[in-house]
Amino acid sequence: MEKKIFSGVQPTGNLHLGNYLGAIKNFVKLNNNKENKCVFCVVDLHAITVSQDPKELKNNIRETVATFIASGIDPKKSIIFNQSQVSAHSEAAWILSCIARMGWLNRMTQFKEKAGKDKEKASIGLYSYPILMAADILLYDSTHVPVGDDQKQHLELCRDIAQKFNNDFKVDDFFKVPEPLIQKEFSRIMSLKDGLKKMSKSELSDLSRINLTDDKDQIINKIKKAKTDPLPLPTTIDDLDKRPEAKNLIGIYASLTDSTLEKSIKEFSGKNFLEFKENLSQVLVDKIIPITVEIKKLLNEKKYLDTILLEGSKKADKIASEKVKKIHEIVGF
Ligand code: TYM
Repeated sequence: MEKKIFSGVQPTGNLHLGNYLGAIKNFVKLNNNKENKCVFCVVDLHAITVSQDPKELKNNIRETVATFIASGIDPKKSIIFNQSQVSAHSEAAWILSCIARMGWLNRMTQFKEKAGKDKEKASIGLYSYPILMAADILLYDSTHVPVGDDQKQHLELCRDIAQKFNNDFKVDDFFKVPEPLIQKEFSRIMSLKDGLKKMSKSELSDLSRINLTDDKDQIINKIKKAKTDPLPLPTTIDDLDKRPEAKNLIGIYASLTDSTLEKSIKEFSGKNFLEFKENLSQVLVDKIIPITVEIKKLLNEKKYLDTILLEGSKKADKIASEKVKKIHEIVGF
């Protein structure tokens, strides 16, 4: 069966190993399967839910495209575009915000985390952000959405919105109800400083994450300083589950070497962290540095990146604006 894949990444700078292992690496695999139709979106409308410097935003949009391409997404096979250039996204988001219920949005844990204590000062956009995400997905009749574990709840909301719209207007199957594609083992990469916290671009300490623009020395230094516990490496999965930092580092190693947790535990069982960290640094440098080098090269080719976005937005606009036309008819405009 042909799969229609859609996913998005915010151009907020500092794309990191969590974005790569949790999402982008999977995009590349899906892009390489001829049976899939893939759309990858740089979600700049989502980015402005918190304030952005306009000049930096423009650079970050290009950097996100460069990261997609440097990681192995082929713009000839997949549509790559930025959300703001296809007005159907904003329009569908409005219509769907009249379908989504306050009660549903009030349950979103990411809003609670991002808004923090001072909820009153958060933008309305930050609150309604999952509705825009639902619009992104539903406009393309997407069947599968590859994301990291932190986006699972937003995808459930998207499914609820699709079903309610179909029911309310008695248009069975008009919006396809998408399936999340969340990897089993490496769907949540944690901070290098705290194995219980997600690796994130908003974390203050740069030592907590490997950025996709870090150089070799930075990667080696960050792994050297990564938090561990005083015991030798675990020998079983049960043992690993009780040790969050060890689990995270072994998980990163397993994902980078396309292996499993179980095999990686066997490889290092009973060894000390020093030895393991040397191996981990080596695979990180081998996998990440070629991407870093390619990103830097592509960033000097602004015209090329802009052309990809322009071509991509034309293709995306064709699909999305047709869907919006049909939505208009259904709603009664
Ligand atoms: P964003 O930009 O925060 O993250 C992009 C992707 O990276 C994944 N990710 C992680 N995966 C594993 N471990 C981590 N520590 C980690 N940190 C980030 C995210 O799960 C995501 O897949 N709302 C989305 C963007 C979006 C979208 C969409 C996604 C907008 N529209 C439509 C899918 C479909 C976001 O803010 O992702």
